[in-house]
Amino acid sequence: MQHQKIHSQGPSLSRIIAGVWKWHTVPYETLERLIHTSIETGITSFDHADIYGNYSCEEVFGSVIRNNSSLKNKIQVITKCGIKLVSDKKDHRIKHYDTTKEHIIASAEQSLKNIGVDKLDVLLIHRPDPLMNPEAIAEAFEILRAQGKVLHVGVSNFTSSQFEMLQKYSSAPLVTNQIEISLFKNESLFDGTIDVLMKHSASPMAWSPLGGGKHFETDAMSRLNEVAENYNSTSSQLLLAWLL
Ligand SMILES: NC(=O)c1ccc[n+]([C@@H]2O[C@H](COP(=O)([O-])OP(=O)(O)OC[C@H]3O[C@@H](n4cnc5c(N)ncnc54)[C@H](OP(=O)(O)O)[C@@H]3O)[C@@H](O)[C@H]2O)c1
Repeated sequence: MQHQKIHSQGPSLSRIIAGVWKWHTVPYETLERLIHTSIETGITSFDHADIYGNYSCEEVFGSVIRNNSSLKNKIQVITKCGIKLVSDKKDHRIKHYDTTKEHIIASAEQSLKNIGVDKLDVLLIHRPDPLMNPEAIAEAFEILRAQGKVLHVGVSNFTSSQFEMLQKYSSAPLVTNQIEISLFKNESLFDGTIDVLMKHSASPMAWSPLGGGKHFETDAMSRLNEVAENYNSTSSQLLLAWLL
């Protein structure tokens, strides 16, 4: 598996990244095998968020990393912050965004503890917060980077103008915008989202690259299966190849 610099200033990540948002649902032994197999295949980068699995996914993943100390030097970790879900693990009672400096720093520090690594390779703001203060976000990024807790920063689900706006305030380059993109969801190719990333030498990171599994029973997928047969591949491989 190829590794690729996603921005001219780094980081280098595996070209296919494992999205782990449902990995808290599998038994420990399966999870351990999943992580080892991913790494052996060359998929060494893992995409997390503080909220995945009702705030449990990072910690469950981290239990494997803590029990296999050599793993932490073999992986790159991406995680996200800025959404506060209603949860039995939290005090707040309304789902809301929080992109204050204090929350971003506290969330990143908690993610480090949960996952059991010394640094986050990439920290993303999970979604654009209508009340976000770009100066506060930029300051949080600066503090976390200066302390070596976060190596690179970026965003997720931002429009092109939101990306440009935050980049104007952030001295650290935004290395990616993690967006929903697949054969079935391709607006970002036409609405400027990708253009602006290219302008800033940054790469998109795709979420739900197979369309989240919603299309497997559709006519489009039967047609795709026919094409896949010609290439001696599966429709999933074809969908990923199209994106890459
Ligand atoms: N930044 C964001 O806002 C955001 C939002 C959502 C997700 N993400 C990230 O993106 C990652 C991937 O998201 P995703 O899981 O939606 O990606 P995806 O790869 O597009 O979809 C995976 C789904 O496709 C199903 N699938 C795969 N092959 C299939 C087949 N042959 N027939 C039927 N169903 C099939 C899988 O089902 P099975 O589970 O049954 O295998 C799974 O539920 C997440 O783990 C997370 O890291 C980020």
